[in-house]
Amino acid sequence: MKRKKIAELIESGDFGSEVTLMGWVRTRRDSKGGFSFLEINDGSTIKNIQVLAEGTLANYAQEILKLTTGCSVIVKGILAESPGKGQKVEVQATEVTVVGWADPEKYPLQKKRHSFEHLRTIAHLRPRTNTFGAVARIRNAMSYAIHTFFQDRGFIYLHSPIITGSNCEGAGDMFNVTTLDLQRVPNKDGRVDFREDFFGKPANLTVSGQLEAEVYALALGNVYTFGPTFRAENSNTSRHLAEFWMIEPEMAFCDLKENLDLAEEFIKTILASVLRNCTDDMAFLNRFVDKDLIATVDDVINSSFEHLTYTEAIEILSKVREGFEFPVGWGKDIQSEHERYLCGHFKRSVAVTDYPKEIKPFYMKVNKDGRTVRAMDILLPGIGEIIGGSQREDDYETLLTRIKEMNLDPADYWWYLDLRKYGTVVHSGFGLGFERLIQFVTGLANIRDVIPFPRTPMNLEF
Ligand code: 4AD
Ligand code: MG
Repeated sequence: MKRKKIAELIESGDFGSEVTLMGWVRTRRDSKGGFSFLEINDGSTIKNIQVLAEGTLANYAQEILKLTTGCSVIVKGILAESPGKGQKVEVQATEVTVVGWADPEKYPLQKKRHSFEHLRTIAHLRPRTNTFGAVARIRNAMSYAIHTFFQDRGFIYLHSPIITGSNCEGAGDMFNVTTLDLQRVPNKDGRVDFREDFFGKPANLTVSGQLEAEVYALALGNVYTFGPTFRAENSNTSRHLAEFWMIEPEMAFCDLKENLDLAEEFIKTILASVLRNCTDDMAFLNRFVDKDLIATVDDVINSSFEHLTYTEAIEILSKVREGFEFPVGWGKDIQSEHERYLCGHFKRSVAVTDYPKEIKPFYMKVNKDGRTVRAMDILLPGIGEIIGGSQREDDYETLLTRIKEMNLDPADYWWYLDLRKYGTVVHSGFGLGFERLIQFVTGLANIRDVIPFPRTPMNLEF
C-alpha cells in the first residue's frame, strides 16, 4: 500500500480507508485499558497524527510498549474520526513495524524544550523538533514563492558563478579558493606566485552574483540570481553568516525608483505567501516564539515603505541625544542600531537612498551632486538592513574614475567596463539576504537558526 503523508491524512477526511504512514514517534501514552496512543510526525506538517495501538497487536508487549521518542515506525491501519479532544483524526493500527530504535538513555532529543544554543550543537537532529521543522518548511515555501514571483514577471533565472576572480563589493572579506600546497606555497619576489595555482591567478568564493547578473540583464532584460554567497567577515552577530543565500534581481532600462518599487512589491508578496501557505507553522511560531509575529508581518505587508535620503536619515539620527553606541554624522555608516531606530521612528519599513559615495561600492551611479550615489538600503522593523541595492553607473568614464578612486585595478574589470562601452543602458538591481527575511517571518533571534547548517567564524561542524 502506498505511503500517505500525515499532512494529507489529516486533511483527507477519508474515514474508514486503509492507510500506511511512516514517521518518527514523538510520544507514547499507555492506557490502563491495555492499549497505547502513539504521536507520530513525518515532517510533512507540524501536526502529529495519533495512532491507536491495541494490546491485541502481535508485537504489542515486545515492541510497541518499548517505543520511545525518536523511534521510526511504519504504521498500517484504518483512518478514523478521533473521539479525543483536539484531534480530528486518528489511525487505528492493524500493524506497527518498528524500523529503527532510539535508545532513550542516549537520544539527545527528549520531549522537554531545549535551548536554541544547545540545538545548534546537535544540528543533525534539530530538524526533528517542531521549531526547526517549521523553519525548514517555511524556508522551502519562501524559495518557491521567490521563483514564482520572478517567473510570473518574466525574469530569467541566472546561475551566477560560485568561484570568481573578481570582487563585487570591493571589500577585503573574501574566501580564497586554491589548490596550492599550503605547506609549500610557490613564491616569486616575496609574494605568492598564483601562476602555479589552479586558475593561474587568485580566485575566491563569490560575495555577490551582481556583476554577472548585470552582464545578462544587458542582454536579456530582467534576470535574477538565487544562490549561496560567501563573506569572510569576522563578525559574530545574530545577523551575519559566512555563507548565506542571496536573491539578486537585475533589470535593464530600470532606474532607482522602479528598483525601489520592485523591492517593496517583492518583500510584501513573499511575506503574504508565507501567511497564506504556512498557516500551521506560522501559528506555532506565533504561539511559542513571538506572540506578535503574525501581526508584525501583517504590518509590513499592509503599510507602505517610508522613503528618505541618507542625508535626511542622518538629520533624524543626529537629534537623538543618547542611546547610540556608534557616532552619527554625514559620511559615517548607518549602523544596525540606527537602522532599528529609524524603523521604530516611522513605525514601518524604511528605504534609505543616496548615500555618500565613499561608503558604498564602486558600481553605484554617481548623482549630479558628485558626492552621493543612487544607493538604496531597505530596513525592516527589528531586523535592520534586509536589502542593499542601487542604480548602476552606466557611464564609462565615471565608472573608470570610481574604480580607480576605490584603489581597484581597472584591468580586473575590463569586461564589466565593456558593458558601458557597447550599448549601455540605465539599469538597477538589489540583493536581498534570504536568511534575514526568514528571521523576520519566523521571529527567530539568531540567523544561525534559519539556515540548516550555519557557517560562522570557528564553526564548521556538520
Ligand atoms: O548590501 P549587500 O552587501 O549588497 C550586495 O552584495 C549587492 N551586490 C547586491 C546587489 O545590488 N545585487 O548585501 C545584500 C544583502 C544585505 O542587505 C543583507 O540582507 C544580506 O545581503 N547580507 C548578509 N546576510 C547574512 N550574512 C551576511 N554576512 C550578510 N551580508 C549581507
Ligand atoms: Mg549592504
